[in-house]
Amino acid sequence: MPRLRARLLDPASPAATTWLPDALVEIDPLGRIAAAGPWDGGPCDEDLRPGVLTPGFVDVHLHYPQTRILGSASGPLLDWLRTSTFPEETAFADPAHAASVATAFAAALAAAGTTLCQAYGSVHPAAAEALFQALADRGLRAIAGPVLMDQGAPAALLLPADRALPALEALVERWHGHDGRLQVAVIPRFALSCTPALMEGAAALARRRGLWVATHLSENPAECRETTAMFGARDYLEVYEEVGLVHDRTVLAHCIHLSPGEWDRLAAAGAVVAHCPDSNDFLGSGGMPLAELDARGVQLGLGTDVAAGRSFRVPRIASSAHDNALRQGLRPPPARWFWQATRGGALALGQAHLGSVRAGMDADLALHDLPTWVDTGDQALSWLLFHHDAPAPRRTWVRGRLVWDRQAHAAAGGVFPWDEVGERS
Ligand code: GUN
Ligand code: ZN
Repeated sequence: MPRLRARLLDPASPAATTWLPDALVEIDPLGRIAAAGPWDGGPCDEDLRPGVLTPGFVDVHLHYPQTRILGSASGPLLDWLRTSTFPEETAFADPAHAASVATAFAAALAAAGTTLCQAYGSVHPAAAEALFQALADRGLRAIAGPVLMDQGAPAALLLPADRALPALEALVERWHGHDGRLQVAVIPRFALSCTPALMEGAAALARRRGLWVATHLSENPAECRETTAMFGARDYLEVYEEVGLVHDRTVLAHCIHLSPGEWDRLAAAGAVVAHCPDSNDFLGSGGMPLAELDARGVQLGLGTDVAAGRSFRVPRIASSAHDNALRQGLRPPPARWFWQATRGGALALGQAHLGSVRAGMDADLALHDLPTWVDTGDQALSWLLFHHDAPAPRRTWVRGRLVWDRQAHAAAGGVFPWDEVGERS
C-alpha cells in the first residue's frame, strides 16, 4: 500500500481549508485513500516534500475539438462560433485528426492537474469515440459526449436526430461506465443549434438511460434575443424546460443573463451551473451574478470552457471567478474557489467519492511545487490559485494511478502536452 509523505492542502468547506505541513497519505490497492493525516513518524514509500498534494481538479465544462483554437480572439460568441469554432470542428469529420487532438486534449487535462471533467465533443460520433479512447488510455475521469446539432450551423456540422440519437446510444453501450471512470452525456449544444424535436429526443434518451445532460444557457445578449425569438419563448430557460432538459442531472454553462424568475426555476429544478468566468471575459459575454445563484443554493462548478476560455488550468479559472465576484461587489473567501475547483465541482457532478484527500475518497491527486517558505494554508491557497506564474502540477494521479509526470514528460523531450504528446502517441 503506497505511503506518500508530502505537505497537504485539502478543501474542508466552501469557507475553509485543511493544511498539513507534514502529512502521510496511504493509498490502498484499489486506489482509494486508506488514511490521510499528519505524518505518523513511520516509513513512507516516497517523500514528496516540499511538494504539496491537493485533490485533482474538476473542470465541469470544456470542449475537446476546440483545443487547437485556444486563444482565438474573434468574439463575441456568435462571431467566434462562425469564424473560429465551426470551421475547426468541421475538421473532426476526419477520425485521424480527432484521434490526434483527443490524445493531446487528454494530456493537457492531466498536465493541468484535472482528474475529472465534463467535455463536449464535435457533432461527429467517431470523434467522440476517439475522445473516449484517449480519456480511457490516459486514465482520466470524464462525463463526455458529442454535441447534438441539427440546425443553425454549416451543413457539415449538422446531424439529424434519427442519426445522432442512435449513434449516441451506441456510444452509451460502448463507453458508459467504462472502468468506473467514464460516462456518456447528452449534449444538445445550445438552443440555436437544435430543433425542438432533437432536444425532445435527447431529453428522452437521457431520462431512459440515466445520463447527464449538458448545454449552454444565456451566455450572450444577442444569443438570448435570437433564441427567444426563434422559439417564441418567454425566456431562454423555457426553451429547455419545454422539451424536458432541465432537471437535477443537467449542467448549464454560463447562465449570466438570466432573469430572477429563471434563477428561481433553475434552482427549483436542481440544475447545476458551470461557471466559466475566463470565457465570459474573453468573449465579452458579461459577468456572472453570483449572488443570485448563492441566494438560491444553486450548485456550482468551475469550467475552463476551453477554448473560449484561455487555459486548461482550473486554478486560473478560480482566479477569474474571484475577480468576477469582486466586480459583482462580493467578497468570497479564496477557500470558496479551492472548494469549487475540487470537492464542490465533484459534488456538482454527482461524484461524492471524489474531490478531497480524506480516508474513503478515491485517490485523485495533484502534486504542486510550492516554495518552501509557504507554511500556512492561506499562503498555499494564495500561491495555488492566484499566482499565475506558478508552474503547472508536477504529477497527477487518478484512483492512485499516475496519469501525468511533468518531469518524465520533459525528460522525454516533451514541451507542451498539446503538441508533443499528441504527436508522439
Ligand atoms: N454556445 C454554443 N456553442 C458554444 C461553444 O462552443 N462555446 C461557448 N462558449 N458557447 C457556446
Ligand atoms: Zn462551452
